[in-house]
Amino acid sequence: MGNYNKIPREKGMDHSLTLFREGYIYILNRRRTFHSDLFETRLLGEKAICMGGIEAAQLFYDAEKFKRKGAAPNRVIQTLFGKGGVQGLDGKSHQERKEMFMSIMSRSELNRLTIIAEREWERAIERWRRMKKVILYEEVKEILCRTACEWAGVTVQEDEIKNLTKNLGAMFESAGSVGPNHWRGRRARNVVEAWMAKHVENVRQGMMTPPEHTAFHKFALHSDHGDNLLDIKTAAVEIINILRPIVAIAIYINFIAIALYHYPDETKKIQTGNEKYVEMFIHEVRRFYPFFPYAVARVKRDFIWAGFRFQKGTLTLLDLYGTNHDPKIWDNPEVFHPERFHDWEGGPFGFIPQGGGDYFLGHRCAGEWVTIELMKVGLDFLVNRFDYNIPDQDLSYSMVNIPSIPRSQVVIRNVRRRD
Ligand code: HEM
Repeated sequence: MGNYNKIPREKGMDHSLTLFREGYIYILNRRRTFHSDLFETRLLGEKAICMGGIEAAQLFYDAEKFKRKGAAPNRVIQTLFGKGGVQGLDGKSHQERKEMFMSIMSRSELNRLTIIAEREWERAIERWRRMKKVILYEEVKEILCRTACEWAGVTVQEDEIKNLTKNLGAMFESAGSVGPNHWRGRRARNVVEAWMAKHVENVRQGMMTPPEHTAFHKFALHSDHGDNLLDIKTAAVEIINILRPIVAIAIYINFIAIALYHYPDETKKIQTGNEKYVEMFIHEVRRFYPFFPYAVARVKRDFIWAGFRFQKGTLTLLDLYGTNHDPKIWDNPEVFHPERFHDWEGGPFGFIPQGGGDYFLGHRCAGEWVTIELMKVGLDFLVNRFDYNIPDQDLSYSMVNIPSIPRSQVVIRNVRRRD
């Protein structure tokens, strides 16, 4: 045994319940108490290391030191991720699969996505003009579901859209739940996977021919290691890994509406048409509001880091929310201030709402550019393309429920097209 620094340890048998109760700020609270960017605790009956900050993120995304196999809890795989998906792969298998995802993220594909989304927003506003009350969260989920399917090359019948939107939503809305909500998410995943698997089969049998540049075409006919095609279920899981998170962007668009309401000066600044400012505003929404609390991995082999000993197999949580609110990285992190991104140099480990590191080599979110583009479209519509009233309602959001969805889901009334 060598001489190691002692990792501060939270006393007690198990802290899963505390993690559940404190939600997004569980790790940040303890980093503060221990005056340490990492600490040890016990979660779900096993030892776990929690850590946050730039150096911790850099370490976490070192694929020589951490792996993903066996890290995510089963209940998250059964609802959010799906079995056999890219999130749980390591090494060469991960890189090959990730390349498949990144192959659809070209500038021209992102432009095509924006055009589809704008058209769907236009159609929705036509509908909203005739509605007494619009629940923005529900409506935007449907806009995004239609957009995602068309972009991905998946044909959906008009009478299937509402159910598909509901089921894709249930998969991420249930990600942090136990009990009935968890089962709702599982049922939704089973239904959508079975439906998508049929579609994949149809493509393979030549009964459907989605355009070659789309996710549906590419993923349905993808073979890992250049050998056999992916098994049908895995191909379905990966296509859903495009559709589901696009629908989840409705949460960020809800937060955009809330930011515009709470910080009215922002609307004027965005209306000047300064593209750089629009991007800064969107970054600040992704930094400031809660979405993914942490990412999980396991220590791949024993190693020492900053004098601390990491043992093979240890469950490790990287504090995404807390890193985005770390006072060592951000001045006044609890203040909503898009200008902070003006001179931001864009390092890959300090601003990590969608994970950090490299898109191709690591597990950083494959859809970060898609998210930014679709948030830009949503922001443009909310600020420049139509008028609406926000009646009295509860615009607060939980720091405990994961994912945190604004309580009223943002109700708007009296939608008018702007000339
Ligand atoms: C709604 C906003 C989104 C948020 C907050 C978000 C966040 C994240 C986070 C935190 C990770 C995990 C990073 C890690 O494990 O280290 C991730 C992974 C991933 N995301 Fe997103 N994401 C979003 C949207 C999207 C979109 C729109 C897509 C696809 C179009 C997408 C596809 C993926 C995929 C495929 C992975 C797995 C990457 C890998 O394991 O290599 N996400 N995302």
